[in-house]
Amino acid sequence: MKPAAKLGVFGNPIEHSLSPRIHGLFAEARQEPVEYRRHLTTPGRFSRSVAEFFRHGGLGANVTLPFKQQAARLVTQLTDRARLAGAVNTLIPNESGQLLGDNTDGEGLIKDIHNKGFCVSERSLVVFGAGGSARGILPLLLEQKPKNLYLINRTVEKALTLKSELMALGLVAAEQIQVHSSASDINQPIELLINATSSSLSGQELLLPPVLAENACGYDLMYADKPTVFMQQLSQAGCKKVTDGLGMLIEQAASSYQLWMGGERPDTAFVMAQFRSSS
Ligand code: ATR
Repeated sequence: MKPAAKLGVFGNPIEHSLSPRIHGLFAEARQEPVEYRRHLTTPGRFSRSVAEFFRHGGLGANVTLPFKQQAARLVTQLTDRARLAGAVNTLIPNESGQLLGDNTDGEGLIKDIHNKGFCVSERSLVVFGAGGSARGILPLLLEQKPKNLYLINRTVEKALTLKSELMALGLVAAEQIQVHSSASDINQPIELLINATSSSLSGQELLLPPVLAENACGYDLMYADKPTVFMQQLSQAGCKKVTDGLGMLIEQAASSYQLWMGGERPDTAFVMAQFRSSS
C-alpha cells in the first residue's frame, strides 16, 4: 500500500481544530491514505517546527491563528492572493524543499457564499474588521464587483490603511469602498453583512447598520457549536439567512487538499452533511 501522505496544521491553540476531521473525510471519500495531524507551536518555535515537519517528509501544511502573517514572512515564494492578504494558510514545498505560501481563505468564503445562495455582485455590503481575516477575503469580495462596500473597523486608521493598499494594488477605486469606525454611520439598506473581526471569540456585539434590506444575509467567519453573537444579533434584527464560517472552513480546506494531492476538488457537500448530522 502507498505510504500515507503526511499533512498537518500549525496553530496555537490547536486542540479544537476541525481540520484533521475535514481532511480525513476528503481522504476517505477519495480513498487516499492521508495522515493529517495538529501541531501546537509558539511564535518562537514556529519556523523550526515547520522546517522539521517538511524535513521529515511533510507533503503540505495549513497554518492557522496566530501564525498566518508569520508564515507569509517565512516562505520563499508567495502566490498573488497570499501577497495581497499578507497572510498564508497553506504551505506547499517544491522539489528543492523551498516553501510556497498560498491563501485559500478568500476562495473558501466565495465558494461558500455561493453554496448558501448569498450574492455579492451588485449588492451593498458591509465587512466588519481590518485584521488578517479581512485582508484574506477583501480582494476576492471586490473581484465579485459589489455595488458598495462599507469597511467598518473600530480602529478606523487600520481600515483606511487597508483601503489605501487595495487602491494601490488597483483592486478598487476610492468611491467603491467607504470606511467608517461604526456601521451606525451607514445611510443605505445593506444586503450582505460579513463579520471578519474576532468579536465572536469574546462574545461581544457589533453595532449594526441602521437599515437592513428585506432580504439581507449575514455571514460570520467564526464558527461554533451554537449561533455566534453576531448571528444572534442579525436574526434579532430580522435577517432571515445567517450562517457561521463552517462552510468556509470546509471550502478553504478543499482548496488546500487539491493543491497538495492534485486531482479533482474534494466533495465538500458530503463533508458539510457529515458535520451537520453530528452537531
Ligand atoms: P484576525 O487575523 O482574526 O483578523 P487580527 O488581525 O488581530 O485577527 O484582527 C482582529 C480584528 O477584529 C480587528 O479588525 C479588530 O479591530 P481593531 O483593529 O480595532 O483592534 C477586530 N475586533 C476584535 N474584537 C473586536 C470587538 N469586540 N469589536 C469590534 N472589533 C473587534
